[in-house]
Amino acid sequence: MDNAIARVKDFLEAHRTTAEQFLSEFLAIPSVSADPQHRPDMKRAAEWVAQFFSQMGLAAELIQSPTGHPVVYAETPHCEGMPTVLIYGHYDVQPAEDPTLWQTPPFEPTIRGGAIYARGASDDKGQVLTHLLSVGAWYQVTKSWPLNFKFVIEGEEEVGSSVLEKFLDEQADRLACDCIVISDGNQFGPDQPAITYGLRGIAYFELRVKGPHRDLHSGSFGGTVTNPATALTRMLGQFMTQDGRVAIPGFYDDVLPLSNEERRRLRELPFDEPAFWASLGVETAWGEPGYTVLERRWARPTFEVCGLWGGYQGDGAKTVIPANAGAKISFRLVPHQDPDRIREALLSYLAQICPPGVQYEVIDLHASPAVLTSLDSPYIKAAENAVKMAFSRSPVFTREGGSIPIVSRFQQRLGADVLLLGWGQDDDNTHAPNEKFSLADFHRGTLASAYLWEFIRQIGKATDS
Ligand code: BES
Ligand code: ZN
Repeated sequence: MDNAIARVKDFLEAHRTTAEQFLSEFLAIPSVSADPQHRPDMKRAAEWVAQFFSQMGLAAELIQSPTGHPVVYAETPHCEGMPTVLIYGHYDVQPAEDPTLWQTPPFEPTIRGGAIYARGASDDKGQVLTHLLSVGAWYQVTKSWPLNFKFVIEGEEEVGSSVLEKFLDEQADRLACDCIVISDGNQFGPDQPAITYGLRGIAYFELRVKGPHRDLHSGSFGGTVTNPATALTRMLGQFMTQDGRVAIPGFYDDVLPLSNEERRRLRELPFDEPAFWASLGVETAWGEPGYTVLERRWARPTFEVCGLWGGYQGDGAKTVIPANAGAKISFRLVPHQDPDRIREALLSYLAQICPPGVQYEVIDLHASPAVLTSLDSPYIKAAENAVKMAFSRSPVFTREGGSIPIVSRFQQRLGADVLLLGWGQDDDNTHAPNEKFSLADFHRGTLASAYLWEFIRQIGKATDS
């Protein structure tokens, strides 16, 4: 058994092509959770994952609901005395949107320049697969499971995790575990892996503004009624100060400030700010005064307009006062901010700033608090060693600005340590055209995952004796 990990490594190397074929098959299924037209594809993707488990020798269960998308659940036979690891990921993907912006079609996975291009390549199918492949390889090589595993692969991460939340509320004891492993994020940079210890939370709303009961000729009626599009933009303009702080009273009340020690550690990360701006095609830095770019991205709350509509959008000019206007607005939250309190603060502020002559409605879209994980855990040490073995480089410790809504619920309900091991890169074009995932990272991620099981076994043994 002692050289098991060496044999697993050889096995993974010998089976790289098969691994890439599995990834291609998985990516070819357009599992867009937000689009009702893709409902059958969501089912196909869930079944593909279940089938993968059955090839691994595990029976998978689809946790269903009439409206949501299935969670695929599988577990290895319980072996007393071994740590239990819960692996979480998602098989749903973001909409591909304008196909003309893709160099190759979003659901025809294509390899170019060492990366596989397809919607979901990095977020999150490619990353999910690294863990399934590593556990499968361990089993093939040793004919036994290196640890107790529970797999939770959901189909609604991008749209609110309704089925999984219910599953977790109703059957938390089934998901009991010592450690939760998630790869649904990014490394710090090319060849610089990271262990992530924080995620921002989110409070996401649609704001609809309604004025006259029909569109009006802007010449005949302009100047006599409040224009909903103008009213909306005036309101949105009051959400932030000129220099980038959120202007809603009470918004910062609960924010957990960064400690000097953490600020010092973040400043030590090898972050190339000019390269960052260049990679985004922007000239000037902008953001909350008094904070570095990494602090703004990872540890400070924000307000963003994610979508905006109202009035005439076609060619040329059409003079009109639109009857309606709307916006999708999100707040990224940091530890200790409560999405419900943010919602209350938003509602009071809107009541205060809405001009007369229009009505508004706020629709809740997403709410999840931020996450901080403990770095003081034997699992973190195991992950650090595993990543080092596979990437030939020690990981740095980072936070992420994005959100994985179920994670804080996992922490609350299961009380297990969370390991966030993103194998992606910031330039993977997640949620954008031409999403990709580096095949080198796919294979290194799989190898790191295989080593992780070895190092967690060693913890298990250390505490047993
Ligand atoms: N994989 C991302 C989250 C992420 C992004 C982690 C960047 C680390 C770095 C995830 O799939 C995602 O996009 N989440 C959404 C959640 C939202 C729809 C509630 C997000 O962050 O916008
Ligand atoms: Zn995503």
